[in-house]
Amino acid sequence: MNAGIIGIGKYVPKKVLTNVDLEKVLDTSDEWIRTRTGIEARHIAAEDEETSDLAYEAAKNALEHAGMTADQIGLIIVATVTQDQNFPSVACQIQERLGAKQAGAMDISAACSGFIYATVVAKQFVESNSYEHVLIVGVEKLSKVVDWEDRNTAILFGDGASAAVISKVSEGRGILSFELGADGTGGKHLLIDQQNNIQMNGREVFKFAVRQMGESAINVLEKAGLTKEDVDFLVPHQANIRIMEAARERLGLPEDKMSKTIHKYGNTSAASIGISLVDDLQAGYIKDDDVVVLIGFGGGLTWGAIALKWGK
Ligand code: ACO
Repeated sequence: MNAGIIGIGKYVPKKVLTNVDLEKVLDTSDEWIRTRTGIEARHIAAEDEETSDLAYEAAKNALEHAGMTADQIGLIIVATVTQDQNFPSVACQIQERLGAKQAGAMDISAACSGFIYATVVAKQFVESNSYEHVLIVGVEKLSKVVDWEDRNTAILFGDGASAAVISKVSEGRGILSFELGADGTGGKHLLIDQQNNIQMNGREVFKFAVRQMGESAINVLEKAGLTKEDVDFLVPHQANIRIMEAARERLGLPEDKMSKTIHKYGNTSAASIGISLVDDLQAGYIKDDDVVVLIGFGGGLTWGAIALKWGK
């Protein structure tokens, strides 16, 4: 039996920062941001609201959605590049707060591909019968590493968290195939520098993302013995609507078969795919037995994709 997602949750901070708010402090416009990125607003954490606080809320929601208690979790994996401090890890912080007494805990770093990487790592532990239930979290407080005077990056990012419980699911459902990739030669195009600010070569990242998202989606379908026609719904990392549309077109999917939450949240990095999944499920866009393709890309450079059949 395959591992799959048996419960999922999200959390975004209360404060909303709109493009119109940004117009007041940066040489930019709502029109530029919307047409070049698809973003209209993003949520920003309060000063005293840390990455671990966002992670904790999303994790609680995922456990509740799975109908589980924290002591049933064998391992916690948190994907983040904006941890509260180098250590203790965010995973250990939420292990304590959730009361997950049976769980091991670790953070992993794969930037915006973090949700995919964490899910794939969890799958290995579940399918090898090492742990029955693994809790994964994708979380970022990017607002603390954004240079708010740099219009090239300040408009793109938002804070948020998503979490999922990964466990064995019924025959035929769950994760059918995956791909993880990395190209360290492109690391210079997207990084957090010594001053703790995001630096990005937007055009290079854009070109890489368009190429890689399309290729990875096709690769996981082939690995699962599926074709483009089998795909019911696509959940791409929400970084730029134009990158997402290119991936959708590569799969030949109609507009309503792709997740679009970027307008509300901006790019929440490791959290974005899980946040989208929660909203898409609530909206009824994803149903049991649908073939869903998740694709992410990000700093590293890293990328990853998963083909799964939805349902417990
Ligand atoms: N407002 C107004 N004008 C702007 C802004 C802004 N916020 N930002 C840049 N511009 C200007 C530029 O200065 C440039 O002006 P010029 O022609 O006079 O030099 C012009 O707009 C065009 O700039 P480009 O960089 O060519 O704009 P582009 O269409 O490439 O869009 C963007 C830029 C949105 C950053 C795009 O390249 C992109 O989305 N790249 C991918 C970024 C991404 O996905 N990053 C996240 C990766 S995930 C992770 O791991 C964190």
